[in-house]
Amino acid sequence: MIDDIVKVLISEQQLQQKVKELAKAITNDYQGKNLMLICVLKGGVMFATDLMKNITIPVKIDFMAISSYGMSTTTSGVVRILKDLEAEVAGKDLLIVEDIVDSGLTLKYLKEMLLSRKPNSLKVCTILDKPEGRQVEVKADYVGFNIPDKFVVGYGLDYAEKYRNLPFIGILKPEIYKNA
Ligand code: IMP
Ligand code: MG
Repeated sequence: MIDDIVKVLISEQQLQQKVKELAKAITNDYQGKNLMLICVLKGGVMFATDLMKNITIPVKIDFMAISSYGMSTTTSGVVRILKDLEAEVAGKDLLIVEDIVDSGLTLKYLKEMLLSRKPNSLKVCTILDKPEGRQVEVKADYVGFNIPDKFVVGYGLDYAEKYRNLPFIGILKPEIYKNA
């Protein structure tokens, strides 16, 4: 698995340090609020659990699964709900937890959908942001790292369901997905 990685872009230690900083900011900003993390499956799962462990105010979590890339590495623009939330969002302070914002299509759709359910507030936290990939205007409120427009895997992010378990963010060898 490790042989498929050209380069470690963000180490495990850097990720853990950043998660602590983000959790601290969220803990400060959400004092006295009704915080609920919305973990976007599957990519957001490692980040969401690490983040949650480091938040020191009461926090709830729910999960949502939406389709994005399928087996390709470029965005389709088609967003589909595979699993909806179980919790009521009315009156809650929602914080979407994403692995990465690239074109922004997934996030824009998700934000509009959640806003229509009338939460008390809605913000976004992503561990990675690829600003160069943006096709629609959408911003995350908390960003871990801005990264170049390269396909990355690890820390929840996959290529064809593989590499999610790597504890760091790595750049995948282009021949891996070009030959697919
Ligand atoms: P967007 O709709 O183009 O912003 O894409 C968001 C989703 O695409 C993310 O939640 C990821 O699942 C996936 N994605 C975007 N860039 C990468 C990448 O470099 N590696 C793995 N998945 C990615
Ligand atoms: Mg994915």
